[in-house]
Amino acid sequence: MPKILVVDDEAANRITLERILKREGWVVAQAPDGRQGLELLRSEGADVVLTDLKMPGMSGLELLRASKAVAPDVEVIVMTAYGTVETAVEAMKEGAYDYVTKPLRRMELVSSMRKALEKRGLILENRRLREQLAVEGRRGEIIGSSHAMRELMEELDLVAPSDASVLLVGESGTGKSMLARALHERSQRRSGRLVTVNCAAIPENLLESELFGHEQGAFTGAVGRKEGRFDLAQGGTLFLDEVTEMPSSLQVKLLRVLQDGEYERVGGTRTLRSDARVVAASNRDIEAEVEARSFREDLYYRLNVIQLKVPPLRERPEDISRLATHFLGFYADKNRKSIKAISSEALDALCSYRWPGNVRELENALERAVVLCRGDIIELDQLPPPVRRHRGGRQILSFAVGTPLKQVERRMIEETLRHTSGDKSLTASLLGITARTIYRREAEWKDEGLLPEDPSPEAG
Ligand SMILES: Nc1ncnc2c1ncn2[C@@H]1O[C@H](COP(=O)(O)OP(=O)(O)OP(=O)(O)O)[C@@H](O)[C@H]1O
Ligand SMILES: [Mg+2]
Repeated sequence: MPKILVVDDEAANRITLERILKREGWVVAQAPDGRQGLELLRSEGADVVLTDLKMPGMSGLELLRASKAVAPDVEVIVMTAYGTVETAVEAMKEGAYDYVTKPLRRMELVSSMRKALEKRGLILENRRLREQLAVEGRRGEIIGSSHAMRELMEELDLVAPSDASVLLVGESGTGKSMLARALHERSQRRSGRLVTVNCAAIPENLLESELFGHEQGAFTGAVGRKEGRFDLAQGGTLFLDEVTEMPSSLQVKLLRVLQDGEYERVGGTRTLRSDARVVAASNRDIEAEVEARSFREDLYYRLNVIQLKVPPLRERPEDISRLATHFLGFYADKNRKSIKAISSEALDALCSYRWPGNVRELENALERAVVLCRGDIIELDQLPPPVRRHRGGRQILSFAVGTPLKQVERRMIEETLRHTSGDKSLTASLLGITARTIYRREAEWKDEGLLPEDPSPEAG
């Protein structure tokens, strides 16, 4: 339960404040001066300190500074009489969360307090997530606790130690390159090199010499002998990214290395041996390329000894908040900003967007938000417009007073089902009912045929 420490030299004020705050369900402690307040904060802790500014002995401003020194994350709200707003402004500059003017209005105080508590809650939640991440970070910084990702990582751990070829398939930005590195680092070849060739980025006529190297004078411009990536990857792993982009003449040569471990340099006659383990990746539908004969079937089978499918982010939305927190921490450090959390509105939008560019798009969105962020919390308007627009997260239903509960119930169930894309068990757990109740209601609605009158509640 949120805990509030009230510091005021006037006993009558303390009693009134305590009554107001307790009515909201908060735990209240109180002290008649700054010194005793600070002692309480130190010994018992608090989420928010509500302090008068003008007090004999330690002033509210001094208490603010001391509180932040004792408990850096505590939020402080100061109370000020009309004539002394300037001091309140100074307090804000020193890190107070808000100020309220006397005579106090209950609603104003409660609403300011709620916001301060919400901020504090976000920060604590964020810290918890980050601590969890620090543990997971040892796993090579691959974030993902969804069922799909956990299964994928288990499979990866299983195949990493073998020398079998692995084909990574999945949409762009899902993490294939990252997983290729993880495969290498978790293999016995980790002391060797991980050599990457992006088959789409290297011009066709240079790709062969890149892969296999060339002898002096092999072609115009081949001044000296050059080692190829297969040479460099001896004892290590060769990662062929965007492998479907490899021209067919090279596909034959690659097949030969995979089958017999043999190759020749461009312009060379000596047969060389390679023991590199090959990991390939593609974001294309590689089976369709085989079907269309632009990718050799025999090569496909050689590469595809083990296939790891990386699911798109929209199929594992549970991973979004962890990934977002992870990137937030990373880019905040990089930009030397002390951003502590993502507002619940912004997180809502992040979680309901479809992420066509997958994790890469999410990462870019967070980097942008960190750069744009002025305070210590990422807000909705710092997210890219398409994400912002997608704030389907928290829809609000409103009903006229006196609407029959049966109609309210139906509307709520139907809208929640729509929100969860028809997932009945998720809907049930959100609404605190059983999935059976949903099935039963749906049957009832069907039996009843048309409901008497549409309550026409407004969504918005
Ligand atoms: N599970 C994850 N945990 C942490 N970071 C991730 C994760 N998945 C992807 N990333 C990050 O997202 C970005 C994109 O990932 P990566 O480059 O591996 O995608 P890809 O599937 O290889 O994309 P492409 O097909 O375009 O080459 C990288 O910066 C990567 O570090
Ligand atoms: Mg990649």
